[in-house]
Amino acid sequence: MNSNNQQNTTPRNSTLKSSYILSILIILIAISISFIPPQTNHTKIQHLKSTISKISQILGFNRPILNPNPSPPPNPNSTPNPCLLWMAPFISGGGYCSEAWSYILALTHHNNHPNNLRLTIAQHGDSENVYYWNGLPVEVRTLAYDLVNTQCRLNETIVVCHSEPGAWYPPLFETTPCPPRNSRFAIGRTMFETDRVNAEHVKRCNAMDMVWVPTEFHVSSFVKSGVNASKVVKVVQAVDTEFFDPDRYAPLDVLSLGNLVLGSRSKSSFVFLSVFKWEYRKGWDVLLQSYLKEFDSLDNVSLFLLTNPYHSDSNFGNKIVEFVEDSALEKPVNGWASVYVIDSHIAQVDFPKLYKAADAFVLPSRGEGWGRPIVEAMAMSLPVIATNWSGPTEYLTEENSYPLTVDRMSEVMDGPFKGHLWAEPSVDKLRFLMRHVMDNREEGKRKGEKARKDMLDKFSPEIVARIVSDQIQRVLDRIG
Ligand SMILES: *[C@@H]1O[C@H](CO)[C@@H](O)[C@H](O)[C@H]1NC(C)=O
Ligand SMILES: *[C@@H]1O[C@H](CO)[C@@H](O)[C@H](O)[C@H]1NC(C)=O
Ligand SMILES: *[C@@H]1O[C@H](CO)[C@@H](O)[C@H](O)[C@H]1NC(C)=O
Ligand SMILES: *[C@@H]1O[C@H](CO)[C@@H](O)[C@H](O)[C@H]1NC(C)=O
Repeated sequence: MNSNNQQNTTPRNSTLKSSYILSILIILIAISISFIPPQTNHTKIQHLKSTISKISQILGFNRPILNPNPSPPPNPNSTPNPCLLWMAPFISGGGYCSEAWSYILALTHHNNHPNNLRLTIAQHGDSENVYYWNGLPVEVRTLAYDLVNTQCRLNETIVVCHSEPGAWYPPLFETTPCPPRNSRFAIGRTMFETDRVNAEHVKRCNAMDMVWVPTEFHVSSFVKSGVNASKVVKVVQAVDTEFFDPDRYAPLDVLSLGNLVLGSRSKSSFVFLSVFKWEYRKGWDVLLQSYLKEFDSLDNVSLFLLTNPYHSDSNFGNKIVEFVEDSALEKPVNGWASVYVIDSHIAQVDFPKLYKAADAFVLPSRGEGWGRPIVEAMAMSLPVIATNWSGPTEYLTEENSYPLTVDRMSEVMDGPFKGHLWAEPSVDKLRFLMRHVMDNREEGKRKGEKARKDMLDKFSPEIVARIVSDQIQRVLDRIG
């Protein structure tokens, strides 16, 4: 195993001074993480952070965002707190990215646990997306910049490699090495969307000291696939229940944002929303079939699809029209029910308003790691219809949603996970549920309220921060 490309914990050079951000941070988000002042001789995990530094430079984040104040003087008697280095695709905008942010924000805002972790982050895994970065709230970007500059000794650091196992050292594609050499303890944080984990990923999981997965479904599928059971721990994901709070927002004007693909453009009395990457796994074909078979233009209903490309071009309108033409779908006598695509970039800060514009959320995926848009919609008190298989079984119940029962599994037909199984949602069942949620608004509202309550009780940042801190404490107890 050649590890030449991952050494060099070069001594910190003093060009990147983070001190000016400290006071802003304290004001903005009252974080309770303590920082090692630049005067100490702790080494900087420079090589790991080159990627995010680079983007910081490009984006101009090496200059102060607000007027700086000097950092507080160092306390010479303070003993360093344990350090947690979270490595994830923080600027990719994908699933692992928003998931990683949910942990970081939870830990930052609710780090009142006795182990008083110092937290630092590094970019790792997927590629970077400047639009996503720019769409993040300024506090989050400021926090990112500061966390990147937290000083830690690698040999005293617990590392979380939050990505697909193919990105773990030695990576199967170009990315910053995770775990870095000489780190104290390595945790792989991952998940999967099919019924099993392939042999290569099992091997990579077993090379970690611990593996965190978000659901019982994953605990069982990972162990069944050969991951050492004593390493696998369930650590659920947080949903930002304060940010995704229906009382705080007015709806986004989706009618003017959406590109009309089928039907006619007009205000409708019921709006279905779906949010997904354009890939077969997401069951967009099932969704379109169900919706277009069940409704026509007289139903005064519309379906908005917020989607973005996944190894495909972005002409989703064409893809939908082609799909409809190639399918056995017959145009209703009264004309198609309206379908809109939103393919313009929606800034992260506008997402709650998007959910707020909908009456119900629907996602008939074949498999999900967690299903972030589903829990976001639930936190926004929407009734949701989602496939009751894989990750979402962790939080979907009859009381808080419309779990779409799975009656058969199907084989993954192509890609690296060919031969694995995932769920095949039924078009007829989805039709039934969509009609039902539209005809039973009061029931939907009650489920939506229960959904928000469940998100607050089980997956709020405060609760998840406590779960993570407890796990880290277990690690600290173990490594002494
Ligand atoms: C980490 O390295 C530093 C400096 O080399 C050393 O003083 C310290 O004892 C080491 N910590 C552990 C836990 O090995
Ligand atoms: C599983 O992991 C534990 C601790 O992480 C280790 O002690 C044990 O030897 C491992 N078992 C196998 C079969 O590798
Ligand atoms: C459809 O619903 C909207 C909103 O409730 C209403 O303004 C509109 O008149 C309805 N259209 C028809 C054709 O019923
Ligand atoms: C959803 O799936 C879980 C786990 O398989 C199961 O226990 C539950 O009964 C299912 N719920 C519905 C409504 O099908």
